[in-house]
Order: sequence, then structure tokens, then C-alpha cells
Amino acid sequence: MADTRIRSRFELTGRVAVVTGSSKGIGEAMARGLAEFGARVVISSRNQESIDAVAAAYRADGLDATAIACHVGDPDDRRRLIEQTVATYGRLDILINNAATNPYFGPVEGLPPDAYQKTLDINLTAALELSNLALPHLRKSGTGSVIHISSIEGLHANPNFAAYNISKAGIIMLGKSQAREWASDNVRVNVICPGLVKTKLSRALWENDQLAKQFTNMIPLNRMASPDEIAGLAVWLASDAASYVTGGTFVADGGMLG
Ligand SMILES: NC(=O)c1ccc[n+]([C@@H]2O[C@H](COP(=O)([O-])OP(=O)(O)OC[C@H]3O[C@@H](n4cnc5c(N)ncnc54)[C@H](OP(=O)(O)O)[C@@H]3O)[C@@H](O)[C@H]2O)c1
Repeated sequence: MADTRIRSRFELTGRVAVVTGSSKGIGEAMARGLAEFGARVVISSRNQESIDAVAAAYRADGLDATAIACHVGDPDDRRRLIEQTVATYGRLDILINNAATNPYFGPVEGLPPDAYQKTLDINLTAALELSNLALPHLRKSGTGSVIHISSIEGLHANPNFAAYNISKAGIIMLGKSQAREWASDNVRVNVICPGLVKTKLSRALWENDQLAKQFTNMIPLNRMASPDEIAGLAVWLASDAASYVTGGTFVADGGMLG
């Protein structure tokens, strides 16, 4: 039999993963990727019906998935997500903080304080709080991995997206800070910065043909990504194939930032 010394490092059998915002888009693709490599995955979003449908579709394909609803801005929901995961599977090895919002598009001087606060609460504070709730279980795991989903907007300011840009820059530094402090427990923390991915969140940018053309012209690969094209990074970062990788920021943007 061929030696699979390196290939087997990608294997996630026996690991349990929570992916927030995994009813659709990038979160769904990452959860699917983890499950295809053997992880038991918790599908989560605000909508029970849609996460039940995703988990059922995975199970129909022979994958292991459970649906637990969680509005990441709600402290009780966050606690319940982690507690129910551990009650169901007895462990937690991988946390992907993916759910995000962008309620305001407009100039920074007109940014309403409530939209600013909501963006920070959902995109940044929730990731901090969920990580803290998961930490005791990730420590026990021995191979804990936290992955935050930022954006190229965390590295490069997109005009009219100030609150989103700030939240996505913040989550990069959250990941770096956690990585420094949690490495001694072998809990690794990394950040993924996708470029333009065709999902509901980015709909305003691709539904309008002219705007879509303008954006794709700025991308050397000359197209938007599909959510599946982000999943491989998440599988790698979650697995032992990335066992020496922590505190990193990984861009998948079709070459846009150059
Ligand atoms: N699409 C892009 O071009 C792009 C680029 C860079 C970075 N990103 C980042 O990638 C991540 C995923 O975005 P996406 O484009 O895949 O978005 P999407 O297709 O709109 O999916 C968002 C997911 O998050 C869930 N969600 C939204 N608000 C939530 C909340 N408060 N609590 C829990 N779940 C919530 C949604 O489900 P429910 O509505 O059922 O709750 C859904 O499952 C985000 O962090 C986003 O900032 C996206």
C-alpha cells in the first residue's frame, strides 16, 4: 500500500467542528469540506429550517452533521451552541467564526452608531466570545483549531464599508492575539481573508452587471470565487497538515491585492 504519511495529515476523522453561519455561502462550503474529510460538523445559523436542511443533505451523502441554531450576537445562543455541541459529540476540536453582517453601505461620516455597533457585535465580539466558550474544549482536544473568517477588506479599506472594514481588521488582530496566548495549549488560531465570493452577502456587487464587471476587472483571475474555492484553506488550517501554522492570515482573492 502506498505511503500516505502526508495525505493522512488532512484527515479529520474523530474531530468535531462548529461553523457559524453555515446554512449557505462560504460557511456551508467550509462545513462540507470538513465533513468530507471526516469531521462531525455542527451546522449553525439563525434559521433552524435552513440548517436542518443542510444537515439532512450532508447525512444523505453519508456525512456526519447536526444542526444547532445560534444568532451569534446573542450571548445565550452562543453558550447553547457550544454546550449542545459538547453534549451531542462529547468534544470540540474546530471552531470557525464565519457569520457576519454588513448593514450599512455609505460614507464613513454618515455611519449610524447603531449600525456600527451591530457590525462590531456580530463580526468581531461574537468571535471573541465564542472562542472563549470553546477554549476549554479546544485545550482538551490537544489539536484545537480556531479559524476566523475576515476579508480582504480587513487588509485594504473598501470605500463605503467602514464598519465592515474595521470589524474585519479587528478579527485579524484577535486571531493573532489568541494565537500568541493559546499556542502553549496547542490551540492554533488562523484567519482567512476571502476576496470577492459569489454569495448572498456580496449580492449587491454581482447582481448589477456593470458593477460586477468593474469588480472582476480588478481581479487578476478575472472572476469571482465560488464558496467551494475557499473551503480547502479551512480544511487545511483545521487539520494536522497545518500543525505548525498559527497566527497566520491567508488571502484567497484571485490575486486582487497583488
Ligand atoms: N462573499 C464575499 O464576497 C466575502 C468576501 C470576504 C469575506 N466574506 C466573509 O465570509 C463570511 C461568510 O459570508 P458569505 O458571503 O458566505 O455570506 P452569506 O452567503 O450571506 O451567508 C452568511 C451566513 O451567516 C448566517 N448569519 C448571518 N447573520 C448571522 C447571525 N447574526 N448569527 C448567525 N448566523 C448568521 C446566515 O444564515 P441565517 O441568515 O440563516 O442566519 C448564513 O448562513 C463572512 O464572514 C463574510 O464577511 C465574504
